[in-house]
Amino acid sequence: MTGTKLSAIRADITTLAVDAIVNAANSSLLGGGGVDSAIHRAAGPELLHECRLLGGCKTGDAKLTNGYRLPARFIIHTVGPVWRGGGYGEADLLPSCYRRCLEVALSNGLRTVAFPAISTGIYGFPKQPAASIAVASVRAVCRQSDGLETVVFCCFSNDDLLLYNAAINEGDTAISESV
Ligand code: APR
Repeated sequence: MTGTKLSAIRADITTLAVDAIVNAANSSLLGGGGVDSAIHRAAGPELLHECRLLGGCKTGDAKLTNGYRLPARFIIHTVGPVWRGGGYGEADLLPSCYRRCLEVALSNGLRTVAFPAISTGIYGFPKQPAASIAVASVRAVCRQSDGLETVVFCCFSNDDLLLYNAAINEGDTAISESV
């Protein structure tokens, strides 16, 4: 049983004092709407300067920057899939976002990470399956590594919070029934 604590909270991710918050960015990494704009606004202009040096990011991949004026030390930028109905590999690309973000965290010795609900806003990924994919993907990494202390699913609405708590509890039940 992994030692990593998984939890869901309702909060503005830019307020979290964790090792890294994850940004649901676009492939340019030069800012946008939603959580991307909130993070750039809170981190300040130095963030954009660093992002300009990264050369963008592929869907499903993740890149690290400093957190600048945020309470979080670092930001891990990832690009989720745009939902096009489910027949374009979206269900494979979303797990890759979570996996790659945690690989970046682990390779930089970061132990506390907060995720927004990647792809479920402007990119339109249905919220319930996205929550199940998010929790299952994080759990799969945590089974292979004990380097993560806490992973927080930072929800921006009560509806999302209910979905993430259900996905976390569902997994707990499955694990407790399997042992
Ligand atoms: N804190 C936590 N979660 C937030 C915040 C915030 N401050 N602001 C928005 N969210 C939530 C949204 O409610 C949604 O659940 O983040 C989730 C992801 O939504 P988006 O930010 O729209 O991201 P996404 O659906 O992945 O679309 C990415 O939007 O912002 C642009 O540049 C970004 O083009 C990219 C696209």
